[in-house]
Order: sequence, then C-alpha cells, then structure tokens
Amino acid sequence: MCDTNPPPPDPLTWIDGELTRLDREGRRRRLSTREGPQGPRIVADGETLVHFGSNDYLGLAADPRVVAAAVEAIRTEGWGSGASPLVLGRARSHLELERCLAEFEGTEAALVFPSGFAANAGTVAALVGPGDAVLTDRKNHASLLDGCRLSRADVRVYPHGDWQELDRLLARTRARRRLVVTDSLFSMGGDLAPLGEFVAVCEQHGAMLLIDEAHATGVFGPRGRGVAEALGVEHRVPVRVGTLSKALGSAGGFVVGRRSLIEWLINAARPYIFSTASPAATVAAAGAALQMVRREPQRRETLLARAATLRQRLRDQGWNVGNSASQIVPLIVGDVGRAVRWSQALRGRGVFVPAIRPPTVPEGEACLRISLTWAHTEEMIAQLVEALRQL
Ligand SMILES: Cc1ncc(COP(=O)(O)O)c(C=O)c1O
Repeated sequence: MCDTNPPPPDPLTWIDGELTRLDREGRRRRLSTREGPQGPRIVADGETLVHFGSNDYLGLAADPRVVAAAVEAIRTEGWGSGASPLVLGRARSHLELERCLAEFEGTEAALVFPSGFAANAGTVAALVGPGDAVLTDRKNHASLLDGCRLSRADVRVYPHGDWQELDRLLARTRARRRLVVTDSLFSMGGDLAPLGEFVAVCEQHGAMLLIDEAHATGVFGPRGRGVAEALGVEHRVPVRVGTLSKALGSAGGFVVGRRSLIEWLINAARPYIFSTASPAATVAAAGAALQMVRREPQRRETLLARAATLRQRLRDQGWNVGNSASQIVPLIVGDVGRAVRWSQALRGRGVFVPAIRPPTVPEGEACLRISLTWAHTEEMIAQLVEALRQL
C-alpha cells in the first residue's frame, strides 16, 4: 500500500534562509582545513600560506618538547579521560599542571577546565546569581558575556575600558554581590585594560574582579603571568582566568586564586562539574609549554619588540591599528565587504590574515586581525607588510 500523505513540513528550512542572508551580507563563515602542524607557515586547502591568524604566540603548539610530553602522557595515562573530573576523569597530569600553574602564577591554587570558554563562562556563573550584579566591558570575549547571561545576575555593560563609568555604575548598584569582568588583553583590538584603575575601583566598592588573561598568559609580564603582572597588580586581582590553548600551545583553560575560590568552583562551576576532563595529554603538553615560558623569556620579549616595530611600520603605511599595544594588531577597515575582499587578496599573495566581522566586533569595526607570533621570521613579516602595501 502506498503512502499518500504529503511529507511533513521540514522544520529546519528557516536555516537555508538565514544562510542566504549571511551570504548576502558578506557574513557567512566558512571553514578551511589545515594540513600538518600549526606554525608560521601552513598548508590550508592545498595553498601554502604565511599564517597570521594563529594564537600560538610563542610557537609552542608543534614544539618537539611539547609533543614529546603529550606522547609520554598518552603512553602512561592513555588518551581519553573517560569521565568528569569529580568522577575520576582527573589524572595525575591534571594535578601536576594545577600545582605548576599555582606556583607559576604565585597563587594558592589553580583549576584546569576543558576549555578557556568553559573556564570563563563557568566561573562567572559560579560567582554571581539572581539578585547579584555583573558588570562587563562592551568588548569582552563571548565566553565572559555568555557567563554573565548564564548567571542570571543583573548584567550591566560599561563602555570599553571605561573605569570611571564603572565607578559610577558600582556606586549605584545595591546588589548583594558585585562582579566586574574584563579581558586583560582584548582579543580583537589587541589593547590592554587599565587594570590598575579597575583594581582600585573594585577595591573601593568591595566588588569582585575577574580578569581573562587568555591572550596575555606567557606573553606579558616579567614572568609571563600576563597583563596584571606587567602592571604590577596581579596579587590584587582575586580571580584570574587563562587558557592553555593560546601561548601554551595546547587546549583548555584555567583559573588561579585562593584555595577557597578553587574549592567553590569545584562545587559550583557547571562546565567543570558536568563536562569530561580534558585528555591528560593536552594537560601534560601545556605543562611542558609552561616550563618553556619560564625558561625562555626571550620568546615573549622578542615577540613584543617585533610587534611594536610592526605596528609602527603599519601606521607609517597609513593603516589604523587602533589602540593595539600587543602581538594582536587589527587593521581597522570598518566595512565588512572590504575586510573580506582584502583578506582574500592577501591570501592570493600567500599571506593569511583573517577578516573579523560583526558580531565578533561591533558594527562598523570590521578589521583584518594580524596575530604575530615568536615563530614569524623577519622575511615573513616583510612579506606581510609588502602584501598590505600592494592593497
Ligand atoms: C579573550 C578570550 N577568552 C577566552 C577564550 C576561550 O579560550 P579557549 O579557546 O581555550 O576556549 C578566547 C578564545 O578565543 C578568547 O579570545
């Protein structure tokens, strides 16, 4: 017997309409695939490109010592961790890395999360809840913003880096607990938060301060602890988050602070409690990278010096690099279509610089985002500058 009923309506057709809209607006994101290891020169979709899009700032993602640590951990602890940390997914490698991170950061304790995103979102939502207030920079990373929303606290957005407005907002906020959250090094603008002022304002109002050092760990500060260390205030920031996935060349995130904070997160941070622990190998690899951050400060010193030179050369060429003060150098072009076209034109010249579009940046602030790493040679940087000149 044949079925004469019409097929049921497809509830997902709206997605095609949305994708067409993204295409029309030049905002559709598409994946390329890298062959071989991460590095300053990569092969993507068959093209060899000098890569100015990676967060592997110290060139450690494919370093033989980091790879060897991962391989050794796989041999001794296997690959998958098999369970969440509280259900014995946590292995010796996690314990050791947490000890090393706490020592490296000069804090009582540390906690490793499966990703930096989970560390941010989980920590914010563990520190405030309904009836509390969370104050967040307009340009904070999505993981902090999502943490604010997840917390169901009252969310107040202050203008970028504006500690005076923050001061006013805190003075008016009567909530039981107040939490201020900010990137220390903004991931798209490459600029630094005025942490000295933020610390003072938070102390004055008795508010908690959480900073995300994702792009600064290993790069800023005399010991590589981040921007808070560079500005001499790291011991006055009660909650510091970092990632293992950028300068440490691995994957994962972490929180450092006092012992009671870490104990609270073990009990209250849902992405920590309800997610499988990261494989021991990723954690062991991050541990090896951390040793290199300690032993080879010249990597971060060289990187930051080269970034300062690059920013000056680009300014001399007439580019708007905004307030970048780091290895992340945006070329702000404003128009989405132009950012995409120029990124493609650079790719045609063998240089990969991603176009960053809204909603990742605010409307009108589309840019080409250059991530400089220690592993880029002078020749590669010269190739980038020349390709940009030709645009
Ligand atoms: C500022 C910032 N925080 C957190 C994260 C999330 O880190 P992860 O990639 O380890 O999830 C990122 C990632 O891009 C980031 O840019």
